[in-house]
Amino acid sequence: MTDAIQIVLAKRPEGDVTADCFREETVTLPALADGQLLVRQLFLSLDPYMRPRMTELRSYVPPFNLDQPLTGGSVGEVVESRNPKFARGDLVMGLLNWATHTVHDGKGLRKLEAGGVPLSAHLGVLGMPSFTAWYGIRHICKPKAGETVFVSAATGAVGQVAGQLARLSGARVVGCAGEEDKCAWAVREAGYDACFNHRTERDYGAVLDKLCPKGIDADFENVGGKLFHAVFERLNNFGRVAFCGAISEYQDTDPMAGPPKMFSIVQKRLTLQGFIVSDHVALMGDFVNEVGGLVRDGKLKSRETLVDGLGKAPEAFMGLLKGQNFGKLVVKVG
Ligand SMILES: NC(=O)c1ccc[n+]([C@@H]2O[C@H](COP(=O)([O-])OP(=O)(O)OC[C@H]3O[C@@H](n4cnc5c(N)ncnc54)[C@H](OP(=O)(O)O)[C@@H]3O)[C@@H](O)[C@H]2O)c1
Repeated sequence: MTDAIQIVLAKRPEGDVTADCFREETVTLPALADGQLLVRQLFLSLDPYMRPRMTELRSYVPPFNLDQPLTGGSVGEVVESRNPKFARGDLVMGLLNWATHTVHDGKGLRKLEAGGVPLSAHLGVLGMPSFTAWYGIRHICKPKAGETVFVSAATGAVGQVAGQLARLSGARVVGCAGEEDKCAWAVREAGYDACFNHRTERDYGAVLDKLCPKGIDADFENVGGKLFHAVFERLNNFGRVAFCGAISEYQDTDPMAGPPKMFSIVQKRLTLQGFIVSDHVALMGDFVNEVGGLVRDGKLKSRETLVDGLGKAPEAFMGLLKGQNFGKLVVKVG
């Protein structure tokens, strides 16, 4: 019998997520049934999509259940197995509980090879956020040399990769982030042509006019809200929007209306495409070939915020929704 510490959803948030939405508890896990394995959690990814899952809203993923552990993309080690596909000592990646240990049926778990890169990179620059960036840039934004691409949340897990891929296509890339040192990193390390602080620059239209004097050809949209309205107004003819997320709206009780002048979609022949990365797993090989190679050759920079200890996950997650992470937010569990 193994005791696990786990974090459950104690209350659904109304507006901002608060500490009382989470509860830490210790449970004794049941003995494994045939086909099950016990995984010891090493790293847990914290991601913005978890916020909508804390509500009752039906979406592309079901809501988290009250009084049940939250789940998230994770890397772990198999400590016991009654599943013929996995053996003790295997490193695995997949959806596990916010917990020190998870009993799993093995479905959706993928084995990882140790070595080469830190294990947490499989949750960031070699994992889901990076795949999201790659898909949105390569299949929707499709930047060309000489075009201007805008990336919001430019130094987040997704944005930092999206901006660099657009830059490698020869486009001018402009981003925004919520702190001066993030903006400085975006320009100095990630190669953005410019990055503005969206918390201090309140007139988004004026700063975009200054930094994108030829308008915007493609927008990798992570933030939504008023920022997106300003970007939308500045899209050029045949502009493309990869609608990836709207983090500025996830804690709003009244979702924001879309931008005015929607008829400009027709006038400017715009393409606005929402996408969910899990619909495109068939393209994972293409992503690994391109982005894996860039990482190996040191041509793609990435930042990570590593938080030590499962107990810190709730606070870190609340911080993510306020921009306190710099790059991919990962909890080191064990
Ligand atoms: N469609 C998909 O399949 C898919 C997959 C993964 C992620 N996403 C979406 O992609 C977006 C970025 O995700 P990520 O994994 O890169 O997140 P992340 O690494 O956690 O970064 C999120 C960043 O967003 C910024 N932010 C937070 N609140 C904000 C606000 N109110 N206004 C402006 N910026 C705010 C913060 O940085 P600053 O300091 O810059 O403010 C924060 O660090 C999210 O909208 C997420 O939901 C979509």
